[in-house]
Amino acid sequence: MKFLFITIFPEQIEQAADHSILKRAKDAGLIEISCINPRDFTTDKHRSVDDTPFGGGVGMVFKPEPLVAAIRQAKKQLPDAKVIALCPGGRTLTQSIVKEFADARQNLILVCGHYEGFDERIFQWVDEKLSIGDYVVTGGELPALVVMDAISRFIPGVLGKLGSAEDDSFASGLLEYPQYTRPDVFEGLVVPEVLRNGDHAKIAAWRLKKSLIATYKLRKDLLTEEQIGLIEGTVKKKMNKTQRLFWEDLRKELNDGQK
Ligand SMILES: C[S@@+](CC[C@H](N)C(=O)[O-])C[C@H]1O[C@@H](n2cnc3c(N)ncnc32)[C@H](O)[C@@H]1O
Repeated sequence: MKFLFITIFPEQIEQAADHSILKRAKDAGLIEISCINPRDFTTDKHRSVDDTPFGGGVGMVFKPEPLVAAIRQAKKQLPDAKVIALCPGGRTLTQSIVKEFADARQNLILVCGHYEGFDERIFQWVDEKLSIGDYVVTGGELPALVVMDAISRFIPGVLGKLGSAEDDSFASGLLEYPQYTRPDVFEGLVVPEVLRNGDHAKIAAWRLKKSLIATYKLRKDLLTEEQIGLIEGTVKKKMNKTQRLFWEDLRKELNDGQK
């Protein structure tokens, strides 16, 4: 998959993508990263890409001419690519949106803003606005890198043997269960026995229980009505003994934790 960044700070993108998993993915040809600098499309002596806002106000606005020229150049290089502008007011990135992009395998042109944002007219050349959350950072490079990094993890081969994006928090709609590695005991803190006994069914049940508890405590909004009902014991459902014990055990652990 190809990611083309439109940015006045290409070194920031190149440096960030030059480490660890992303570097290996690049070297293996699983992802391709390139940049186009809107300053290369300016005609004035100072190579300016910003100007004061019409109507007054503080800050500067990203000028449309160099940005649109950069987008046109990017589209020549990647004609099938989707053009995404990073904007705090865009659709908020979630793991399911990330997966949508990864599954579509459509190349992306990521337009990074600066200053007080873009001249509104540039959105005529943009397919979608994306936000990484309800807060504002200084420029679009970090948000664009977050988008690229999160999508890359779903591209087969990128994580290699290091893990699977399908097991991560949010992949199942739940937060991830707690993880442990050696030593078994660290400063008196012991790894739960169930994880050390090799019983895969018990381990899976323990992990699901811990995921449900973490999600219920921290991000109840991610749970379905039915999951909340089962956790709280307000939903009556036909279940076998193992399932009944699972939910009873979960409720007991939740209640004990709240004491
Ligand atoms: C200082 S911000 C501009 C904020 C703008 N005045 C506003 O209130 O929406 C400069 C640039 O950073 C990027 N940016 C900042 N926060 C972002 C976020 N949460 N998600 C995506 N991009 C963001 C955008 O590209 C934006 O054009």
